[in-house]
Amino acid sequence: MTEPVLKVSDLSVSFRSGGRTVHAVDDISYEVRPGEVLAVVGESGCGKSVTSMATMGLLPPTATVTGSVRLGGRELVGASEKELARVRGNDLAMIFQEPMTSLNPVLTVGRQIGEVLRRHQGLSRKQAAERAVELLDLVGIPAPRRRVGEYPHQLSGGMRQRVMIAIAVACDPSVLIADEPTTALDVTVQAGILDVLRSLRERLGTAIVLITHDLGVVADIADRVLVMYAGRVVEHGEVHELYAQPRHPYTNGLLGAVLKPGAEGKRRLPEIPGLVPSLEAQPDACTFAPRCPRATERCTAERPQLDRAACWHPHEVEAR
Ligand SMILES: Nc1ncnc2c1ncn2[C@@H]1O[C@H](COP(=O)(O)OP(=O)(O)O)[C@@H](O)[C@H]1O
Ligand code: SF4
Ligand SMILES: [Mg+2]
Repeated sequence: MTEPVLKVSDLSVSFRSGGRTVHAVDDISYEVRPGEVLAVVGESGCGKSVTSMATMGLLPPTATVTGSVRLGGRELVGASEKELARVRGNDLAMIFQEPMTSLNPVLTVGRQIGEVLRRHQGLSRKQAAERAVELLDLVGIPAPRRRVGEYPHQLSGGMRQRVMIAIAVACDPSVLIADEPTTALDVTVQAGILDVLRSLRERLGTAIVLITHDLGVVADIADRVLVMYAGRVVEHGEVHELYAQPRHPYTNGLLGAVLKPGAEGKRRLPEIPGLVPSLEAQPDACTFAPRCPRATERCTAERPQLDRAACWHPHEVEAR
C-alpha cells in the first residue's frame, strides 16, 4: 500500500475563553493516501472544522494544539507561520462552505487564480492568465475563456465554488481539505461539485479529506469514513463495510435513521435524541453514554479505546 500523504496523530485542540477551557478535539488520528477520499462525518459542533483548521495551522492564538500533523514527512504542528504559509496553497489546500466570502468581489476570477499562481509558482502574468483558463476548464466551468474575465457576483453559487476549487488546486496540492463544500448548494449543483472532486482525485491523484454531514455524499464518493462525536473519533472504516455493518451505536443511529423506510431523500444527519455533551471536560467515560441505548455502568466509568469503533458494547458483525 502507498504511504499516507497526510498523517494526523493524537491531535487535540482546546480553546481558552473567559477562564474556561473547551476541549474541541480530543486525541484524533487519521491518515489519507494519494488519490484517496476520506470522509469526516458527525453532527454540527463535533469538531470537524476545528480538526481541519488545526491541520492547516489556521487556528487563532487562543487555541492549544498538541499531537502531530505530518504532510509528506514534514511536521506541521509547531511549524513557523512562514513555513505554514508556504505549505498552505502549495501542498495542502482547503475549500470552505461559503465561496462568496472567500472570493474578492472586486477582482475577476482569472486575476484571483492568477495571483495564486504568480505568488506560489512564479508564473508571469501571461502564463498565469493562460493557466487560469485551463484550471476553470478542469473544474468544469463552461466557456472558461469568457468566464475568467468575470467577477464573482456574475457567477452562480455552484460556479463560485468551482472557482474556489480551481484556486485550491492551482498549485497541484497533494491534499485538499473540503469543509462542507456542497452544504450551501442545491442538490443538482452539489452533484456537479462532487464530480469535480472525483475527477481531481482521478486525474491529479489528489488526496481529499471531505468534511460533511451529508451521508449520501459519503456513500457516493468516499473510500473511508471517520465518524466523529463530541471531539472524538467513535468509528472508522472502509465505507461499504461501515455502511453495511456499523458497530458504534452512534453510527448505527445515524445510518438507521437515514435508511429507515420513508426517510428516502433525507440525506442530512438526523437528530438523535439527547444533547451533545458540553466540551468543557472530556470525561474518562464514553461521551455518547447519555444518549446511548446500549449504555451500561462501565460506559460512564471508563473511556472506550478506538479499535474499529470506540465502544464497550458494539453492534456485532453478523456472519454472512
Ligand atoms: N475559536 C474558537 N474558540 C472557542 N471555541 C471554538 C472555536 N472554534 C470552534 N470552537 C468550538 O469547538 C467545537 C467544535 O466546533 P467545529 O469544529 O466548528 O464543529 P463542526 O463539527 O460543526 O465543524 C464547538 O463546540 C465550537 O463551539
Ligand atoms: S461505550 Fe457504552 S455508551 Fe458508549 S457507545 Fe458503546 S455502549 Fe454506548
Ligand atoms: Mg464545521
